[in-house]
Amino acid sequence: MQDMENPAIQVRPLTPNIGAEIHGVDLSKPLDGQTFEEIHGAFLEHQVIFFRDQKITLEQHIAFGRLFGELHIHPAAPSPEGYPEILVVHADEDSKRITGEAWHSDVSCAEEPPLGSILYMHQVPPSGGDTMFASMYAAYEALSDAMQRFLSGLTAIHDGEHVYRGRYRDEGVDDTGKTYPSAEHPVVRTHPETGRKALYVNSTFTKRIVDMKRKESAALLGFLYEHIASPEFQCRFNWRQNSIAFWDNRCAQHYAIWDYYPNVRHALRVTVKGDRPF
Ligand code: SIN
Repeated sequence: MQDMENPAIQVRPLTPNIGAEIHGVDLSKPLDGQTFEEIHGAFLEHQVIFFRDQKITLEQHIAFGRLFGELHIHPAAPSPEGYPEILVVHADEDSKRITGEAWHSDVSCAEEPPLGSILYMHQVPPSGGDTMFASMYAAYEALSDAMQRFLSGLTAIHDGEHVYRGRYRDEGVDDTGKTYPSAEHPVVRTHPETGRKALYVNSTFTKRIVDMKRKESAALLGFLYEHIASPEFQCRFNWRQNSIAFWDNRCAQHYAIWDYYPNVRHALRVTVKGDRPF
């Protein structure tokens, strides 16, 4: 039972549209029911929530993710020995690319894309390495009624092949003969928990709008990608060591900024399984 008079946590919004910092909780300790409900409520309302100064082990990171559902195993990336549910997000002077350096919703090419992702920062560069987040509720709601109606009947193909093929070769992954996920999803999805509508195309995975000519699809996607990237729908998170971000892939996109080369940035991600978008 939630005690509204005496909240267990403090929620400090970063912007009106997206993002909030959560204070007053230690994620290395088991969460009581009220604290969990308040964190879950803040996650649904703000679409990405941030925690500072958390000292958690791999097991505690995994346990926190499991409070929100079963964990997702990445279709392409290698994981540390014995921890298939951990995704390593690492960049250094030898990196040729980094994870997430374009707007996307994680693994949207899957039939059932992840609900959310929890990134725990182990090492930050001296400056830079921020992550941007954009609210797909705000992006949808800012469109005209006519555009909203037009988009609501459309679906799009999201594909992993061009994103993942050979991507982890440098880390010893031979993906010869492997098939990567591809799925058709609504262009506007309804969030299964809040009931709100969100734009659901992204420039990383979405290949084309179904039943449109190639040029029509490219023009429409081009418009939507530009619209989605409007600063008004965004917040930007400046990481420190031991910060955590937990984002909702069903209604937010994110973009990792690689402005810190050749410095090291090292984080681990736990990803929670989601449902088929509708
Ligand atoms: C990701 O897309 O999971 C990476 C985000 C980040 O490194 O900030």
